[in-house]
Amino acid sequence: MAGSRIVSLGHYQPSRLVTNDDLAAIVDTNDEWIRDRVGIVTRRVAETESVADMATAAAGKALAASGLTAADIDMVVVATCSAIDRCPNTAARVAHRLGIAAPAAMDVNTACSGFSYALATADHAIRAGASRNAIVIGSEKLSDVTDWTDRSTCVLFGDAAGAAVLTATADGEEPGIGPVVWGSAPERGDVLKIEGWRPYIQQEGQAVFRWATTALAPLALQACERAGVAPTDIAAFVPHQANTRIIDGIVKRLNIPNAVIAKDIVESGNTSAASVPLALSKLVERREVPSGAPVLLFGFGGGLTYAGQVVRCP
Ligand SMILES: CC(C)(COP(=O)(O)OP(=O)(O)OC[C@H]1O[C@@H](n2cnc3c(N)ncnc32)[C@H](O)[C@@H]1OP(=O)(O)O)[C@@H](O)C(=O)NCCC(=O)NCCS
Repeated sequence: MAGSRIVSLGHYQPSRLVTNDDLAAIVDTNDEWIRDRVGIVTRRVAETESVADMATAAAGKALAASGLTAADIDMVVVATCSAIDRCPNTAARVAHRLGIAAPAAMDVNTACSGFSYALATADHAIRAGASRNAIVIGSEKLSDVTDWTDRSTCVLFGDAAGAAVLTATADGEEPGIGPVVWGSAPERGDVLKIEGWRPYIQQEGQAVFRWATTALAPLALQACERAGVAPTDIAAFVPHQANTRIIDGIVKRLNIPNAVIAKDIVESGNTSAASVPLALSKLVERREVPSGAPVLLFGFGGGLTYAGQVVRCP
């Protein structure tokens, strides 16, 4: 069975920059608290763009960089937990705007782990022969589901999209996407939820923090083991961007001394399903990871869900 690999990446962020001082003008917070407790300095907030607009922009860039055309794509998967427009799903909206004819088109909602779930889904479809070239996108407009009067959540999030084009590997070529390690702790789903009407993000921050810093490192190591890559060979670690203290806590337990650690949260905030492809796309754009090098992706969050895999850098 053929595997798949990432051919190219793309990302999109809205132009409106929101600083910590901007937020201090609307809720009782300050720059020092946000930097110390979370690590965020700025985030982007969409004004007119929808989840589908941002997804289309990111996917369009990834497609343009791939050497493929819309006619080559037979599957579009969008990870999102914030799309207000439900039907047609976001994937179909993106496909229509990019001129992709008759693709399998689906949205995946596993909140912040969404991109790794979507990537695995597309990889599995390619392995099964149900797809040859796919676009996988994480896109979020969390500003639509943020309570802007709640200082404990509104300082955390941002809007963005990131996308990857996948293709089947050639006969004899090593797969570029390793086996996924995915799962959830559904009995603990209440600690981070977006529910009700209108839906707002609510969370027990410390419970999420404890779970992320204790449960996830062994699972990320499992993803390395299943890919047959030693942690010391990992060239970059791109975890979900929720909190720099969470990232540091996980990194400490991974033994990945040679890895570039993605910390896009500093400039972008927590963009849920967009955070991993956004951070990865920026690392590649800045040429911080050599082509072909093993990169450990690991998403986690609402649900509580998690998913991760080792991929080869395009
Ligand atoms: C949310 C998070 C940053 C809060 O940090 P924390 O150190 O746990 O802070 P606490 O919630 O204990 O609050 C400490 C104090 O800061 C206050 N506080 C909360 N938000 C604040 C803000 N934006 N500005 C200033 N003070 C704030 C609290 O009211 C509390 O005050 P008190 O001691 O007078 O009661 C942290 O728990 C976290 O990152 N959790 C993970 C959440 C996450 O990543 N979710 C998404 C996963 S996908």
